[in-house]
Amino acid sequence: VSAGPASPGSPRIRPAGVDDLAVLVRFNAALALETEGKTLDLEVCSRGVLKAFADPDRLRYWVAESDGSTEVVGQAAVTREWSDWRAGWVWWFQSVYVVPRSRQRGVFRALHGAIRRVARASDDVVGLRLYVEEQNHRAQQTYRGLGMRPGGYVVYEEIWPERFGGQGDGSSPE
Ligand SMILES: CC(C)(COP(=O)(O)OP(=O)(O)OC[C@H]1O[C@@H](n2cnc3c(N)ncnc32)[C@H](O)[C@@H]1OP(=O)(O)O)[C@@H](O)C(=O)NCCC(=O)NCCS
Repeated sequence: VSAGPASPGSPRIRPAGVDDLAVLVRFNAALALETEGKTLDLEVCSRGVLKAFADPDRLRYWVAESDGSTEVVGQAAVTREWSDWRAGWVWWFQSVYVVPRSRQRGVFRALHGAIRRVARASDDVVGLRLYVEEQNHRAQQTYRGLGMRPGGYVVYEEIWPERFGGQGDGSSPE
C-alpha cells in the first residue's frame, strides 16, 4: 500500500518489509525499555514481527526513513478493531517509536499523516485510536498535537506470560 507522497524535507514513509525485521525488533526493545522499563525477549519479539509480516491482518508496520537517506528512524504499526456500533474498523496505532536523535522533527507527524491518509482512503475505517502509558506525557502531548483526544477509557487486562515466555510481571508488551 502506498502511503502517499512526502513533502520535501520530510521523512519518507513506507510500509515495512521482512528486510526491516532487525530494525523493528531493535526499536520494539528500545520502546519497551524506555517507556515501561521492560526488557523484551528478542526471540519472542522477532517471532511476533515475522508472524505479522506473514499475516498483515494481525499487524501492519510502516517505517520512516530520514530525509535523503534510507536509514530507518521511526516506526508505527496498526492493528484493527471492528466497531459494531459504527459498522466499521477502528485502526489502533501500536509500537510507536522514533529514535532519540530524530525526535521533535516531525517524524511521527509524518508516520501518523501517512497512516491516516491510508485509513481515510478506506471507506470502512471509522477512526483511529491508541493506548498510551499514563506517565508517558511526551507521547500524550504528541497525540494531542496531532489532533487526537483522550478517549475516556481505562485499559484493563489479564496477560498470561507463560504463553509467550514473558517475565511474569502481569503487564502487556506495547
Ligand atoms: C512520542 C514520539 C513517538 C514522538 O515522535 P516525534 O517524531 O518526536 O514527534 P513529532 O516531531 O512528529 O511531533 C509531532 C507533534 O507532537 C508534539 N510533540 C512532539 N514531541 C513533543 C514533546 N517532547 N513535548 C511536547 N509536544 C511534543 C508537537 O505538537 C509536535 O508537532 P510540532 O513539532 O509541529 O509542534 C517519540 O518521542 C518517541 O519515540 N518516544 C519514545 C517512545 C514512545 O513514547 N512511544 C509512544 C508509546 S505510546
